[in-house]
Amino acid sequence: MKQQDIAADEQLEIELLLEAIHRKYGYDFRQYSQAHTRRRLEHRLHLENMGKFSEMIPRVIYEEEFFTQILLDLSINTTEMFRDPWFYKRIREVVIPHLRTYPFLKIWHAGCSAGQEVYSMCILLEEEGLKGRCQVYATDFNDRILAKAKDGIYPMDLVREYSSNYLKAGGTGSLSEYYVAEYNNVVMKRFLKEQVLFSSHNLATDGVFGEMHMICCRNVLIYFNRDLQNRVMELFYDSLCPGGFLCLGTKESMKFSSVADNFEVVCGKEKIFRKKRRR
Ligand SMILES: C[S@@+](CC[C@H](N)C(=O)[O-])C[C@H]1O[C@@H](n2cnc3c(N)ncnc32)[C@H](O)[C@@H]1O
Repeated sequence: MKQQDIAADEQLEIELLLEAIHRKYGYDFRQYSQAHTRRRLEHRLHLENMGKFSEMIPRVIYEEEFFTQILLDLSINTTEMFRDPWFYKRIREVVIPHLRTYPFLKIWHAGCSAGQEVYSMCILLEEEGLKGRCQVYATDFNDRILAKAKDGIYPMDLVREYSSNYLKAGGTGSLSEYYVAEYNNVVMKRFLKEQVLFSSHNLATDGVFGEMHMICCRNVLIYFNRDLQNRVMELFYDSLCPGGFLCLGTKESMKFSSVADNFEVVCGKEKIFRKKRRR
């Protein structure tokens, strides 16, 4: 059999597997990037000593635990506090002065993973004196990771890096003011999450969140194909108030999206955009 026929058959097996997941559990990975899904499923295949992608189909259908494992495999949860510190620095310098002009703010972190991004933003808002007038929505489609976000408990050995990021991001105090150390972990202080609503939301299938002043969706769209990226961009456009800010990850772009012309670039390198006001 030719190499390209094998690849086409394997792709068919993957598509049938994703179809089974969608029909049985409602999670839609059919528009994730092919390279990403193949890589992650190949990894699972080797760990489970399986020969073909199609062997996973009966297992996802009949073993819920196996499906949960596949869900974890397909949703990369890598994150950190003040990830790309220069991004947060630009938020302080460029975005905060605009946000300050609103009496009440709504901020949405879509694909928030274990919450480090959300706590980072809450610390920044606290230091800028804005936290008291914010409602923050923190969403992810993976309920296990969302539960971790709510807990806000992180391994102590990561804190040195988080603290260094915090300072590079323009932090005005010390990160240690925002957590309590417990054994080998740090627990983020309760007051940080007072304005945060953690909830399940799937960017591939769920609808808009109304009238947001800022949306952060960083390092999520890279896993989606062009059509799904476009759907999500339209969702964000509809969820933002005029003049609202959209923040993407460094490797992400809105260039090919149908709403690109309705945004202006605020910071090109940091991927901060602003929804244009209608004239
Ligand atoms: C690499 S993490 C990024 C976390 C954080 N935004 C950051 O930049 O550090 C990607 C997150 O997107 C979530 N995700 C993937 N597909 C999603 C979808 N369709 N809807 C909502 N969240 C999704 C994953 O569960 C994961 O937590």
